[in-house]
Amino acid sequence: MEKFAPLIPGNPCLIHGGDYNPDQWLGYPDILKEDVRLMKVAGVNSATVAIFAWAALEPREGEYHFEWLDKVFDRLWKNGIHIILSTPSGARPAWMDEKYPEINRVDEKRVRHLHGGRQNHCLTSPIYRQKVREINRMLAERYGKHPALMMWHISNEYSGECHCPLCQEAFRNWLRNKYDNDIEKLNHEWWTYFWSHRFTSFDQIESPSPIGEGGIHGMNLDWKRFVTDQTLDFMRNEIAPLKEVCPDIPVTSNYMGFYNGLNYWKMVDILDRVCWDNYPGWHNPHEKTWETAADVAFVHDMNRSFKAGKPFLMMESTPSKVNWGDVNKVKRPGMHLLASMQAIAHGSDSVQYFQWRKGRGASEKFHGAVVDHYGREDTMEFQGVASVGKLLQKLSGVAGTTTSAQAAVLYDWENRWAIDDFQGGHNHRDRGYVNTCRAHYRALWKRGIPTDIVSEDSDFSGYKLLIAPMLYMLRPGVAKRLREFAEQGGRLVLTYLTGYVNENDLCFLGGFPGDGMMETVGLRTEELDAVYPEDENSAVVKENDLGLQGTYALGDVREIVHPAEGTEVLAVYEKDFYAGMPVLTRNQVGSGAVYYIAARTGQDFIDDLTDGLLKETGLTAPLEMELPEGVSLTMREGSGEKYYFLMNFSENTKVVTLPQGMKFRDIDSDELLEGQVELQKYAVKVLTF
Ligand code: GLA
Ligand code: ZN
Repeated sequence: MEKFAPLIPGNPCLIHGGDYNPDQWLGYPDILKEDVRLMKVAGVNSATVAIFAWAALEPREGEYHFEWLDKVFDRLWKNGIHIILSTPSGARPAWMDEKYPEINRVDEKRVRHLHGGRQNHCLTSPIYRQKVREINRMLAERYGKHPALMMWHISNEYSGECHCPLCQEAFRNWLRNKYDNDIEKLNHEWWTYFWSHRFTSFDQIESPSPIGEGGIHGMNLDWKRFVTDQTLDFMRNEIAPLKEVCPDIPVTSNYMGFYNGLNYWKMVDILDRVCWDNYPGWHNPHEKTWETAADVAFVHDMNRSFKAGKPFLMMESTPSKVNWGDVNKVKRPGMHLLASMQAIAHGSDSVQYFQWRKGRGASEKFHGAVVDHYGREDTMEFQGVASVGKLLQKLSGVAGTTTSAQAAVLYDWENRWAIDDFQGGHNHRDRGYVNTCRAHYRALWKRGIPTDIVSEDSDFSGYKLLIAPMLYMLRPGVAKRLREFAEQGGRLVLTYLTGYVNENDLCFLGGFPGDGMMETVGLRTEELDAVYPEDENSAVVKENDLGLQGTYALGDVREIVHPAEGTEVLAVYEKDFYAGMPVLTRNQVGSGAVYYIAARTGQDFIDDLTDGLLKETGLTAPLEMELPEGVSLTMREGSGEKYYFLMNFSENTKVVTLPQGMKFRDIDSDELLEGQVELQKYAVKVLTF
């Protein structure tokens, strides 16, 4: 496997930098000078500039001020610092909202918002799209050939939705297109026969609203899809002038992990690179540090998977704390380096921060930043960042390498939207889709198994193990592709809530799991039982070759399922009127097998089942070694080089034993390592040969 091209052409290195907002400091020339000196001390090689700079670039309509940005470009470039230039659409100057109020969003209660905040423009407004095109073209023409420019960062954290009349009309057109202008088709797919909600014209349709329609699930889904498509359309409008003027400069935009308002799976191809903003709540009392780490790793792996292994960027993280939590805890010593290296370990080619320097005023003045109001380098934050800078320089060989995985967890936004919307199941406040995906991922993470995250639309054929929890919605063709995956030798793990509805949230007729999945899974689901915490029950394990033993406590969702002839029942309910009925089954399909977990279980069951599945599939960690609790292992490779990341996300020193007969070089210390290696609390070691 060849390495991917580095982020800076011809300069294989990892990117270290972050959001730099000199436009806030134009009245402080000494600070702007000092910034560059400090960037060099911190080992920063990139700055993401002008994210919210529209008011500085165009303070009055048609009056442009690029001189300050020219100076920033030249000053940084003279010092060898590359620039990721942002388009300013994330926030608007006051004159614009005053003159063109249509740009301000209308919320779901049909209230038009006032000027203020950010990331709150109408997704449709023609005048806003025109303004964005114009300013983007000017930026491209002025800086597109500047040697410092390495990448475009379009807007910031696209999010939210607008319910204004322009967006309503766009939504109706989107529906006309989807349903071939046939209102009866829409009535069928949305099941508007219910509560006399049938439409006779597309003109009657309004987006979902708490003061209007909210109970038509097909409509809710289509609205969410429309919001993603309209955001994509807005992005296309942003990107067009950039690509016309400088086709070779890559484009990215910062996504937000599990943010639920957009379907990121559909928003990947439009970008040359993906990146995300990473703000975990480290050191919280609700979970162990390694559990937080595993959940972050999930998102890193998803970002690596978005573009088939192409390295992503961690566009934002905090050097110490955030400002928006209920509790804003400072990262404990060691965690900054460890969390930064975790991104690299899972396929990021960058460590970047929000932000370079703390602003003097307004809401983000106490958000962690590389440079504090104090202004000097002798702070824990600055030193933490500088130590990341040093290590990243030593790791330049990692740039462009990747991880290939034969295990995958399926996480699909549309499926999540449908799960969260249905009524008549367990906990309406939290259906637990994300956490169930995480639980299966955690089991793989603990064992150091390289794992991709996939969607229903991904190609499954390269995997040996595919875990698709709560696959409630089956879009056309998915059931068939899952079957083929198993037939060709794959091990497929499905759970309760599989195959209830089609892509428009209409229930499958003829039994669940639908769309032919009953045969694939080898059972029929009769009922979904959501229970109280007091309704204890367990899975009693039968004789099996997976290593499962004894009983496992069950959670709040239990399905009553009937196995088909030939389906192996590996565990059964202990109690209740369905005692003795299956909790875990296996159905041989072709040369593979389909497992079905009919009830929500604890992590213990998922861990033990995963062990059995790993044995069955022969999947192993990149190094054969025991990983004590909290220790994570990943590997990146490319062009014949291999890099192993050993990270201790526990509160104690851990000792690991490297595989016998293998010698490694610790890249940081240049020491040769073999046999036992001590990993202190929060330690990270990057090893190569
Ligand atoms: C987001 C934004 C940044 C900043 C940080 C603070 O990620 O993109 O502009 O507000 O949050 O954590
Ligand atoms: Zn709108």
